[in-house]
Amino acid sequence: MPIGVFDSGIGGLTVLKSLAMHFPQENFLYIGDTARLPYGSKSPETIRKYSEQIMNFLAAQGVKALIIACNSASSQVSEHEWNSIPLYNVIGPGAIAAAKATVSQKVGVLGTRATIQSGSYQRAIQLQNPKIQVFSQACPLFVPLAEEGWIDDPLTNLIVYRYVQPIIAADVDTLVLGCTHYPLLKQSIVKAVGQNVQLIDCGQSVSAMIEADLRSGRIPRSTAKKGKIQVWCTDLSSQFARMAETTLDPLQIDELCICNL
Ligand code: DGL
Repeated sequence: MPIGVFDSGIGGLTVLKSLAMHFPQENFLYIGDTARLPYGSKSPETIRKYSEQIMNFLAAQGVKALIIACNSASSQVSEHEWNSIPLYNVIGPGAIAAAKATVSQKVGVLGTRATIQSGSYQRAIQLQNPKIQVFSQACPLFVPLAEEGWIDDPLTNLIVYRYVQPIIAADVDTLVLGCTHYPLLKQSIVKAVGQNVQLIDCGQSVSAMIEADLRSGRIPRSTAKKGKIQVWCTDLSSQFARMAETTLDPLQIDELCICNL
């Protein structure tokens, strides 16, 4: 039984990569809803509807756990189970990691409009520690830059710098990459905020949570020697195929194909 992972596009592959590196014996079935990307500029109702469709689809494929590798979708789905399948979002683990990491108690959050407007990170971080000040910034141009593969491009550096100005001015010591596409722009983000700001990548934080649940038996462990990676998407373009391979490198994709939800 695979672990189901989904996002609107390639962003969730940063989470999948971290998971597949941590758990090489597990099988993964990834859905990128590329036909309906981006999610971050859509209404809460639409994001919820799309997420439910994908969760139902993955449940019908027999997955043993569901990981919402998309912050915009995570901000609209608060359940911890779906059709009795353990369900994980990326906001909880990201918030816990940020609250642990900050010393100055000033945390920045970068995300899509949907994620920032939902206030989910602010609530989740302050649930850990109400004294932490949270400075949020929506960065709607980051997702198209990442999907386009403009990684560490001079134009990307300029755009990143412009968006993160208010966060730099707030003097945060920790910055949550609150969209799974953003780790792809990490080099530009570090250039803008400097080496002293600690970046929180939700992919890494969610792996720790899965580890705990594999250990406790909430998720049964795979007995395979080597797991398979299936990447399915709702629209398959050559750009998606190229970006998927680059993002997952050095991991190999066993199956890349289109699916109908
Ligand atoms: N990668 C997604 C996220 O974490 C969504 C990007 C989008 O489709 O806008 O929010």
